[in-house]
Amino acid sequence: MSGTTLQAGRPALPVDPDRDCPLCPRLHDFIASWRAREPGWYNGPVRSFLPPEGEAAVRFLIVGLAPGVRGANRTGRPFTGDYAGELLYSTLKRFGMARGEFEARPDDSLELIGTAITNAVRCVPPDNKPVGAEINTCRSFLVPTIARFPNLKAILTLGSIGHQSTVRALGARVAAVPFKHGARCDVGNIAVFSSYHCSRYNTNTGVLTEEMFVNVFRDVAEFLQQ
Ligand code: URA
Repeated sequence: MSGTTLQAGRPALPVDPDRDCPLCPRLHDFIASWRAREPGWYNGPVRSFLPPEGEAAVRFLIVGLAPGVRGANRTGRPFTGDYAGELLYSTLKRFGMARGEFEARPDDSLELIGTAITNAVRCVPPDNKPVGAEINTCRSFLVPTIARFPNLKAILTLGSIGHQSTVRALGARVAAVPFKHGARCDVGNIAVFSSYHCSRYNTNTGVLTEEMFVNVFRDVAEFLQQ
């Protein structure tokens, strides 16, 4: 099964927005302006990145913030083409969660292993800052995205926006599960791990060091091995 999730008695929910998704007018217009400016770029809502074996192989989901304008918005693959992906994919490889070469292109040889990557907001926002209504609207894709993986055990949220939207998507209250770097909390049968976002800003300012990021992945890897 792909493309939709089936929920008993309810219509199937799409796991990805349409290419011309109109639900967030500001983001739709922003993408339209980039389509005019850079017609060779992807310039659309970015789909989740899955391992070649498909949904059933996914035990671990990473939830980022939103595509970067010259990153996923340009290339069409989450965390591909901007700095944030360098640290993320090298760390995934280090823990056996990815293989191949990451060359910051969607047609490189990088493959995920047991892992999927998505974003809380699928369209590139101006200044990397989605507004609350856009985060809430795009959760209608995050909910079925989480539901599409029948063997999901753990989610890693990158940054507070990804964390809060994931917690809400899982039906929990943010006040009960606040964002904290390095923390793990169990929501239903999913372990939710949290990290500061691996953005260039956070690593340049020392908010997130490589060691801090690696330590979070070590916790996730140990949990998945249990
Ligand atoms: N690229 C993405 O796809 N998501 C982020 O959160 C940052 C960069």
